[in-house]
Amino acid sequence: MQNPIRVSVTGAAGQIGYALLPRIASGEMLGLDREVILQLIEIPPAMDALRGVAMELEDCAFPLLRDIVLTDDLDRGFEGAHLALLVGAKPRGKGQERGDLIRENGPIFVGQGRAIAEVADDEVRVAVVGNPANTNALIAMSSAPGLPRERFTAMTRLDQNRAMAQLTGKAGVPLTDVTNVGIWGNHSATQYPDFENARIGGRPAEEVIGDRRWLEGDFLTTVQKRGAAIIEARGQSSAMSAASALVDHVRDWMGGEATPEGDWVSMAVPSDGSYGIDEGLITSFPVRTDGKGGYEIVQGVELSDFARGKIEASVAELQEEREVVRDLL
Ligand code: NAD
Ligand code: LMR
Repeated sequence: MQNPIRVSVTGAAGQIGYALLPRIASGEMLGLDREVILQLIEIPPAMDALRGVAMELEDCAFPLLRDIVLTDDLDRGFEGAHLALLVGAKPRGKGQERGDLIRENGPIFVGQGRAIAEVADDEVRVAVVGNPANTNALIAMSSAPGLPRERFTAMTRLDQNRAMAQLTGKAGVPLTDVTNVGIWGNHSATQYPDFENARIGGRPAEEVIGDRRWLEGDFLTTVQKRGAAIIEARGQSSAMSAASALVDHVRDWMGGEATPEGDWVSMAVPSDGSYGIDEGLITSFPVRTDGKGGYEIVQGVELSDFARGKIEASVAELQEEREVVRDLL
């Protein structure tokens, strides 16, 4: 693996950026043996704020932080990047769905996808956070035809972490007992957090919890609507937990931490047709990562009619989003 590693972050002066950058620079994301060059990308009105963020990063005196580049130029920002974290985009406000942002945020990912294909390292990996994340990743991937499709992912790890937190709270067990939590579909209110295959202490979560009504009801809706609940309470969308989930996503994918044997994690990745989902659609699946930049969609997960119905509804929403941005693909 490269040392130092070049990490480009868009929207670096935003809320998520503020919670994320110290965790990259400290080595939590990519390993304590890997130096990092941060290439921070913003739009011109946010460059002053970005300079302030960079001053703070310097003042943290992180031993692994080799250099910081600040720019509003995509070619400079993605030059030689080994990892591109596409965070910069407008967040939704109270009463909005993430999909409402699609026409405003979608075009951002055309230029970014192109620039990544042109100037980033040949081995670059991309994780999209800006909403609607799945479809923005689809736009970036479609704008970068020279790069293998599987390099483009969108983050649903926050949804997985939310589901794990709900299960651990209900079962009264340590978080580390909860495994095999798969998020299927869109990072939206239609997502399906699969409780039927989740395990607690190695046993089916359903058996441990013993309350199917709760799992089908409060559990599902709490996870699906957690983002909106945070906006309602905080007046701003999640940032600390989003940054933390991105650390998890990248650490497991390419930061040296392969998925433990028998477990899986959730990532939105281009479908390869698995489970009958349209090839190329960026859909959240249970995946197994190798910690070195590779992953595979877990095959043979048993899905009940209930689960299939939920997944189909979320995939249908992704297909609709794809139609709304057809001109950008
Ligand atoms: P924010 O408004 O605090 O910051 C966004 C930053 O992006 C701003 O500094 C802005 O100047 C910058 N930006 C806007 N357009 C840009 C462009 N074209 N290039 C580079 N930078 C650009 O927002 P935030 O809270 O940091 O959230 C960022 C995005 O992440 C939002 O779309 C939000 O909905 C999304 N989000 C996704 C998840 C997830 O789980 N996938 C979780 C939380 C937030
Ligand atoms: C989240 O899940 O917290 C983010 O996608 C922000 C949002 O709009 O909900």
